[in-house]
Amino acid sequence: MHAAMATRMSVRAFTPQAVARGLIERILVDAACDNLGAAAAPCTVHVLQGRSRQALCEQVCAAHDALRAEPALQAQYPEPYDYYPRQWFSPYIERRRENGWGLYGLLGIGRADKDRMHAQHQRNYRFFDAPVGLVFTMDRALGAEHLLSCGRFLQNVMLHARLQGLHTCPQAAWNQFAGIILPHVGATADEVLVCAMALGHADPDAVVNRFHTPRLPVQDFCRTMP
Ligand SMILES: Cc1cc2nc3c(=O)[nH]c(=O)nc-3n(C[C@H](O)[C@H](O)[C@H](O)COP(=O)(O)O)c2cc1C
Repeated sequence: MHAAMATRMSVRAFTPQAVARGLIERILVDAACDNLGAAAAPCTVHVLQGRSRQALCEQVCAAHDALRAEPALQAQYPEPYDYYPRQWFSPYIERRRENGWGLYGLLGIGRADKDRMHAQHQRNYRFFDAPVGLVFTMDRALGAEHLLSCGRFLQNVMLHARLQGLHTCPQAAWNQFAGIILPHVGATADEVLVCAMALGHADPDAVVNRFHTPRLPVQDFCRTMP
């Protein structure tokens, strides 16, 4: 498990190599085995492959393009919950910029290059070419505090994927398109979108996968007793 934690990273380019259904099931079973909290199942996982994955990608990419052309459409795509703060502030805004520009810089995308930025962002909506897209939903009535359990489950999925030689990228970028995603996966009116996740084999040659988010030194996030 230590190796899985040490090698887990958000992968943003996958090979087309298929992932067997049995392997996906194994990962989900293992991820849920220590997760039987008060709500028994932390979230519902909708597994998208093949045509269902492709159809969702096409719909959401089209919506993403339309939103760029007509920003006023934003009102049609409310986020299910505030994943990001409504207003960024220090020191988080600096860290966010450092990560964002680190990633775009590696890809040679400059601040003025809006077309390439849009295209790179849109790769989220193709699951970065991963053959498997996971969509996580939870029961709306469980409330925001249940997101903690979902986060724990998501981390388990990412680590068990590593144990099976696979990689992941958790994705909140999909959240604003919940209005498209939820009907597509056949979610009930009681379900709310938590986020999505790309799952597959990392492309070892892709430059984007050389990006490693810097880690904070322990003294920056740990306060010890005097
Ligand atoms: C809940 C969640 C949502 C995320 N959403 C996105 C996303 O939409 N697109 C993306 O490229 N990365 C996304 N990330 C990845 C983070 O940027 C990444 O986890 C962070 O920079 C740390 O890097 P690492 O995962 O490589 O350790 C998300 C991470 C989490 C935990």
